[in-house]
Amino acid sequence: MEGANTAITTTRLADYQPPVYRVEQVTLDVDIHPGQTRVTSELQLQHNPDSDQPAGELVLNGEALVIESLNLDGETLTQDSYHYDGHLLTVRDLPAQCVLTSVVTIEPEKNTALEGLYQSNGMVCTQCEAEGFRRITFFPDRPDVLARFTTTVHADKATYPLLLSNGNPVDWGEEGTRHWVTWDDPFPKPCYLFALVAGDLACLEDSFNTASGRPVALRLYAEHRDLDKLDHAMQSLKNAMRWDEQTYGREYDLDIYMIVAVSHFNMGAMENKGLNIFNTACVLAHPDTTTDAGFQRVESVVAHEYFHNWSGNRVTCRDWFQLSLKEGFTVFRDQSFSADMNSAAVKRVEDVDFLVNHQFPEDQGPMAHPVRPAEYQKIDNFYTLTIYEKGAEIVRMQYNLLGPEAFRRASDRYFEQFDGQAVTCDDFVACMEAESGLDLSQFKRWYSQAGTPVLTVTDEYHEGQYTLHVRQHTPATPGQPDKAPLVIPVKLALLDSNGQAVAMDEQGNRETVVIVDQSEQSFRFAVPEAVTPSLLRGFSAPVVLDYPYTEAQLATLLAHDSDGYCRWNAAQRLYFSALDRLVGDPGQAQSEALALKPVLERVIERAKEDPAQAALLLTLPTEVALGDRHSPLDPRAVHQARRALTGALGQVLEEQWQAQQQAWQRQDFSMEGDAIGGRQMRLLALGYLAAAGSAGVTETVGELFGHPLCMTEELGALRLLVHHGLPGADQALADFAARWQGEALVMDQWFAVQATCPGEDTVSVASALLDHPAFEWTLPNRVRALVGTLVNANPVAFHAADGQGYRFFCEALARLDAINPQVAARLANGAARLRRLEPQRQAMLEKGLQGVQQKASANLSEVLSRILTDRS
Ligand code: TRP
Ligand code: ZN
Repeated sequence: MEGANTAITTTRLADYQPPVYRVEQVTLDVDIHPGQTRVTSELQLQHNPDSDQPAGELVLNGEALVIESLNLDGETLTQDSYHYDGHLLTVRDLPAQCVLTSVVTIEPEKNTALEGLYQSNGMVCTQCEAEGFRRITFFPDRPDVLARFTTTVHADKATYPLLLSNGNPVDWGEEGTRHWVTWDDPFPKPCYLFALVAGDLACLEDSFNTASGRPVALRLYAEHRDLDKLDHAMQSLKNAMRWDEQTYGREYDLDIYMIVAVSHFNMGAMENKGLNIFNTACVLAHPDTTTDAGFQRVESVVAHEYFHNWSGNRVTCRDWFQLSLKEGFTVFRDQSFSADMNSAAVKRVEDVDFLVNHQFPEDQGPMAHPVRPAEYQKIDNFYTLTIYEKGAEIVRMQYNLLGPEAFRRASDRYFEQFDGQAVTCDDFVACMEAESGLDLSQFKRWYSQAGTPVLTVTDEYHEGQYTLHVRQHTPATPGQPDKAPLVIPVKLALLDSNGQAVAMDEQGNRETVVIVDQSEQSFRFAVPEAVTPSLLRGFSAPVVLDYPYTEAQLATLLAHDSDGYCRWNAAQRLYFSALDRLVGDPGQAQSEALALKPVLERVIERAKEDPAQAALLLTLPTEVALGDRHSPLDPRAVHQARRALTGALGQVLEEQWQAQQQAWQRQDFSMEGDAIGGRQMRLLALGYLAAAGSAGVTETVGELFGHPLCMTEELGALRLLVHHGLPGADQALADFAARWQGEALVMDQWFAVQATCPGEDTVSVASALLDHPAFEWTLPNRVRALVGTLVNANPVAFHAADGQGYRFFCEALARLDAINPQVAARLANGAARLRRLEPQRQAMLEKGLQGVQQKASANLSEVLSRILTDRS
């Protein structure tokens, strides 16, 4: 186990050296026995001509492996010809070409870190990205060593009837009560894409014919009890396969595609070649147990991992600094897929909402780092929203700069030119340049410069000339005090007093893109009247826009803009300005609500056109987002302000909410877009009514809870009962737990509903839940559901004035770190706002974190030290 003594080393992009040896072929033999698994690996090694180091010395990674034997070209290695320090194995006097065989033992049963080979509910599985393979056997554990893998798995037949690895099964047999299967993967791959599963699992099987007519067997595996929850993932997989053929010209390349659902998992899912391993939360779905949001997550994660087969596996990363090469691109691909499968306008707003509310704070706090970082201690800590979501925005900007045809040519070039290679973000951009003729050298600063740029826009109108003055400025981030101007594409339209877009040029275009690439620039348009600018349409760049909109202009944008993002942004600005005034003065909520009433009435009237869009427009910013606008943070005042406005809006629009909650009531379950949007609208309306204490709402919500059509309704009703403290809430919680105690993913929601109940008392409720028989520290989903949600989504509880939220958090961090350092380090990001707190809270949290830091793992220590040394 990692602990306080783990040496902390920094890895730098500038120090990259090609590997000294290549691995041509790996032959693995994994012999699974209770208590001890023996791994035999035969590496065919070849000196790398691209290395300027001579042949002779080889350094392999290997974490806490117990060596049984080492053998070079058939000769046993003696103790004096190698050195192993528990992390690195150094072998001397190697020829340029040789075979190194190692036999080691490992203990998957004791592996609670969930990296390498581990156990989950009786099955054995792997997680190798980023650096887990070194916990299985000795290997050059770096993504630019691509090898062919042949893997034989041996295990007890009764306990593990199913033995899986990457590629195709080529041989198998029985040995008494045991059996074995050999898998061969014809595609060279880095070891982070290795996977192995042994277990007793149910299978949903289907098939897919590729565009060129090759049949592919699709096999989704889960525990037997979950077999009925695999249909949605299967449909999503088939849709994703077809979409990638049609949109990117990419076909699947093996005869089998497998997904295994695992309960214990550090992240969402993993794209291992031909054998994806998924967190159950990202693959299982059934209307009785899964919310609509859960269904959408399954669709997008299944697609994401499938798309990695090309963007990540066939073309992989040279080193982990290039992580966004595969992750940013693949997120862009899965976002585009979901947009095509559902409502594109709604999807874009959801993605922007997520980016702005989660990635922006990361980019503005102590964890800020470039999309291509220059250094790291633990790469696990860099699987961040910046790498994924901002990385996707950078690809999206390139897509928009090139246009769909040139972008497709560029992606074809990328996949063809670099197939089977490990490459860099520069290689990707070079393809974009080659197919478009654009010079993207300045654009590439997006990869190396951290922080969220602020665009400050002012305007003036004189006799037919409308001028926009634009300034860009990126605030300093840790280690990067000075920032250079970026290339910022700003898509815009100009709306007349009726909210109609006016012609902006001689061709009569009503929308255009201006490229901001200097610190200060002006743009002129000939228009017949003073206009309202609709800026950053489609969220054309990941920047903060500062423009002095009047409330009347925002009302115009919200009512008339044809761009979904700009409408949503206008609504957010209206809510924020009302809420900002209410922080510290919640008594004015009624008049703020009355001022908003006519604008929101129009949105509600149009809800039938697109209920999901309306629900997004009618949702107030979170307490976390509101809190970030007030310094120092006053969590109680923020909570009261938001609570007061919700109640007042519930009251002044009571009739409309009543009408909505009735209009979207259904007799039969459906997964159609309008049915899903309708459920969102209905629950939103009930939330406003509950906040207003409207007559009859308790009965309506209670009825919905008692007779739901699906989990979205059941859980939505439970949340309303609990969060609004409605009569019957405690009984509902007890009933829900009794009904769903056998469904782990539903029980996660049960914990989360309680942990997110706004109020300082929630900390003691959550503390008591740590002792609930269903709470398990070794199950990351459960820890995130109880501790993660309280810390990240319940600021009034987390920042409770007496510091009990901080004690709860710090004790959880220490406890979890001893079990699972990766998940502990991720959870620690919840403290990133430390320096925004008022002095008393800051001192309490700081002291708690310092205590945790003393015994922290290398993973946790890196995050805590960035937070504690933050001086912004
Ligand atoms: N490559 C995975 C994805 O984005 C991420 C991932 C899965 C991961 N499991 C992990 C990263 C464990 C680090 C550690 O789809
Ligand atoms: Zn990914």
